[in-house]
Amino acid sequence: MNKNDILSGVITKMGSGGEGIIKEGEYSVFVPFTLPGEKVRYQVLKVKGKIVFGKALEIITPAEERIRPECKVFGKCGGCQLQHIKYKSQLKLKTKTVVDCLSKIAFLEPEVAFCERSDLEYGYRNKLQLPVRENAVGYTVGFFAPNSHRVIPIRNCPIQPEWNSKIISTTQKFIRNFGISAYNDETGKGLIKHVVVRDVGGKLIVTVVITENDLPRKEEYIKLLQEDFKEFSLYININKLGNNVIFGDKFILLYGNGRYTTKEFGIKFEIGPESFMQVNDGVRRRIYQEVMKCVGVDENTVVIDAYSGAGLLTAMLAEKSKKAIGIEIVKEAVDCAEHLKIKNGLSNMENICAPCEDVLPEIMKKERRENNKCVLVLDPPRQGVERNIIEAIKESLPDKIVYVSCSPQTLSRDLGLLLGTLKVDEKGVTVKNDGEIKSLYKIEEVKPFDLFPQTRHVETVVSLIRADF
Ligand SMILES: C[S@@+](CC[C@H](N)C(=O)[O-])C[C@H]1O[C@@H](n2cnc3c(N)ncnc32)[C@H](O)[C@@H]1O
Repeated sequence: MNKNDILSGVITKMGSGGEGIIKEGEYSVFVPFTLPGEKVRYQVLKVKGKIVFGKALEIITPAEERIRPECKVFGKCGGCQLQHIKYKSQLKLKTKTVVDCLSKIAFLEPEVAFCERSDLEYGYRNKLQLPVRENAVGYTVGFFAPNSHRVIPIRNCPIQPEWNSKIISTTQKFIRNFGISAYNDETGKGLIKHVVVRDVGGKLIVTVVITENDLPRKEEYIKLLQEDFKEFSLYININKLGNNVIFGDKFILLYGNGRYTTKEFGIKFEIGPESFMQVNDGVRRRIYQEVMKCVGVDENTVVIDAYSGAGLLTAMLAEKSKKAIGIEIVKEAVDCAEHLKIKNGLSNMENICAPCEDVLPEIMKKERRENNKCVLVLDPPRQGVERNIIEAIKESLPDKIVYVSCSPQTLSRDLGLLLGTLKVDEKGVTVKNDGEIKSLYKIEEVKPFDLFPQTRHVETVVSLIRADF
């Protein structure tokens, strides 16, 4: 098989990225935006050993699950991968992704519940991240193309609420009318890099990421935003580095309250521009309810909420336990959690600002020394948890672990290491454990949630209990 060959074949299965796979002799051909059973004509883009990447040119026989995508730039924009698939089939695919990862990466075969749906299939995202880049004729505001820094122009993103199109047109108007420059990745020049918006219960926090210390004509941007939005805050964030990280360290509030308070599960909590918040409010609530159910705490239990963000879940846990300890690396999020603790009178909630890998092992040891019944909640970023944390868990043996994950791949790796189906070899590589497996925990439940409809991403809650209980 060679680059640029034009071939046809039948999709036999799907990969975890939502792409169809054709088996062509010894080759596996990955063709995005295709479905099992479909006969497709495709062009070979890249051959890497026995793995081939193709581009669909024609769907010769469409599958029954195929539907018309909502978005005009679906396939060109890197945001969504599954808009061409009926929603029920998206859920099926995400369930299978979790099953396959656990089995192929961790050699685990637990029962996996069917992926729980999102009430909103579109318009669910409470966070918008718009890259702004210079182009040959001026600037583009939109989203990155898949695996690229090329910005695809967008007027309206259907997975965002309606306000997204107003933010896009206001930003375009501001750049155009006031001669503001857009960033260029090659030269490292140009002012605006990103506009990031967070919707907190209907109030917007807008952050313009720039490469200088100030935003010229900022009062004009505020005026334009006032035309469309009653209540909002505007920050600038200064990021002079040419890397892929969106925010730099410094945020400056230009307009509005800066942080907003909202109420969920009877708890008032505050969010600022830097604090993490799950992007789909409805599904986040169901995930938190699921965590509360799995944790099953009582007033004798200490709960450690590792990777705790702005502290809403820590507060819910504190209400039902002897003590809840949140650990989070972002200072603003920990400030929000402290504010929440005071506002809600939760004296048994402790908020620690530190990397989990530095403090969690000692905290678990202390709870064990004091003979406290201890439950650990882990909700790490995509990279999963650090190895020293896995080792520390195996030593301290919390009574229960509830792991919330946005990556079935790193979830599987971490579960394999915890349950003994994987081990770390002399070279520090994670490999299958072919020896005797002495599992310290058993899986009680695996439940995927569709936090990110139309995309390949899936959130999973796994509950583990000590094997000797
Ligand atoms: C997936 S979010 C979960 C946040 C929170 N549990 C929630 O539901 O909103 C992961 C959080 O971990 C924080 N984080 C990332 N690396 C960390 C580390 N090494 N130690 C502690 N917190 C970290 C991030 O800032 C983020 O708030």
